[in-house]
Amino acid sequence: VKRITTHILQEMKQRGEKISMLTAYDYSMATILDDAGLDVLLVGDSASNVMAGHETTLPITLDQMIYHAQSVVRGAARAFVVVDLPFGSYQGNSKEALNSAIRIMKESGAHGVKLEGGTEVVDSIQRIITAGIPVMGHLGLTPQSIYKFGTYTVRAKDEAEAEKLRIDSLALQEAGCFAIVLEKIPAKLGKEVSQNLHIPTIGIGAGGDCDGQVLVVNDMIGLTKGFKPRFLRQYLDLYEGIKEAAQSYIRDVKGNDFPNEKEQY
Ligand code: KIV
Ligand code: NA
Repeated sequence: VKRITTHILQEMKQRGEKISMLTAYDYSMATILDDAGLDVLLVGDSASNVMAGHETTLPITLDQMIYHAQSVVRGAARAFVVVDLPFGSYQGNSKEALNSAIRIMKESGAHGVKLEGGTEVVDSIQRIITAGIPVMGHLGLTPQSIYKFGTYTVRAKDEAEAEKLRIDSLALQEAGCFAIVLEKIPAKLGKEVSQNLHIPTIGIGAGGDCDGQVLVVNDMIGLTKGFKPRFLRQYLDLYEGIKEAAQSYIRDVKGNDFPNEKEQY
């Protein structure tokens, strides 16, 4: 199979073919999602929430992100694998950002990195791209800044924040980003930014006019019980499915039904 490249993603935008992206954190899930035909797999720092059980994305470390990335890369034959630079691994200075990105690429074999922010992080982005590493931007509700925002509600509803996002999106494109994630912003702004840029936008809660869509896979397959924001379409209820399977197993073990004659040596 032919690997998806940043060049192919660019062509998809030009011909109006939407880009499909989901998160993945482990080998088994990456194998299934790659087989299903996802264009991009994101090793998101949402692993901090859905894998490790933290309240925010802030605690996950670069070493932990690299471990997840290694597992996903082993399962992805066709998808382009992007890895989040975790909180604290790039904001300090561009040299540190470059070192973090190089570690991810070298130690995991991923194909690109993603980091949050606009003009504040442009120096870091330029330095990483100069080293030959593709960078995906991330604007809008950037979860590593949750304590600055104080809430997970929609961003850029007022004109000042919308204007900052427009400027940031152009700065990221100018710096050489191959795509930008737009998280939780009004659909109208998502459309405007997508039309203004020549690089693809990937939306999550940013409306249907972005050039692609991304969801946290655990949310879309219904593993994260009780998390149902408006932007989430849940395709499975795996929480209930797995719970029922586990209860059946308990019943079979306790009732001396498992293992049966054919399931032993
Ligand atoms: O970490 C993550 O899952 C993300 C996506 C929601 C874009 O950054
Ligand atoms: Na993320």
